[in-house]
Amino acid sequence: MDEWLEEQYKSIGKVAGYLWNKGWAERNAGNISLNVTDLISHEERDGLSFSFFYQLEKSMPALGGQIFLITASGSRMRDVKEHPKRGLCLIELDETGSMYRILYSGKANRPPFPTSEMPSHLTIHHFLARERRPERAVLHAHVTETIALTHNTDFKNEERINSLLWSLQPETTLFIPEGVGFVPFRIPGSYDIGEATIEKLKKHKTIIWEKHGALVIEKNLEEAFDIMDLVAKTIAIYFKCRMAGYKPEGLSKKQIGDIRDTFFPSE
Ligand code: 13P
Ligand code: ZN
Repeated sequence: MDEWLEEQYKSIGKVAGYLWNKGWAERNAGNISLNVTDLISHEERDGLSFSFFYQLEKSMPALGGQIFLITASGSRMRDVKEHPKRGLCLIELDETGSMYRILYSGKANRPPFPTSEMPSHLTIHHFLARERRPERAVLHAHVTETIALTHNTDFKNEERINSLLWSLQPETTLFIPEGVGFVPFRIPGSYDIGEATIEKLKKHKTIIWEKHGALVIEKNLEEAFDIMDLVAKTIAIYFKCRMAGYKPEGLSKKQIGDIRDTFFPSE
């Protein structure tokens, strides 16, 4: 097994374990993809076997020839943690970005098919490639706290979600100064949810999908998980206060402004 691939398997397995432990990955919930095009050498690539090409519903020219590690459809994060190889597929798009095929080591069993959320993952990677953005990892999970929050009609609103997040603890201003993007409910696994998400990714790296969960893009998976965890912890603080019978006072606008002035003085 090539070292670079082994490394990626390890990192995906580790984060899959976090998602399971957090309770954000019931059954087959959650999916992960990594753009590994720059990590694989031509020789390594040429040593792999491949499936037929499968047509994509939408063509993604900026992804022509690119290679991704992506979780398999139906894979359980608790299993991906134990056996990352079994729950992942390596896919390669053709030169026009309109078809993909599955790459696998000659000795491997027939590889599984990619996640049903592949349309949104590829739509996002296509956006990142077009915009020459540095993020390579896309992480989606059924984050309990974000699902619960968006069942409250008051919080089906991006501005209100961000005011809440920034007011609950300084960390959200420090690590998500641009705030999170909110995507109203869309059918899971659709191109539609991917298109709505990339609109929000123009300004944000963290997205809350109404009544479905969260999605984060980052340079690597561990950092994507950190942000997801921060959002969940912050919302959990809100629920804990409410469950204890009081509304959180929240940091004042001035306190939040002072944090911004201290840590982002030039903005
Ligand atoms: P997959 O098992 O196809 O990855 O679907 C899980 C999911 O989270 C859909 O949004
Ligand atoms: Zn999902």
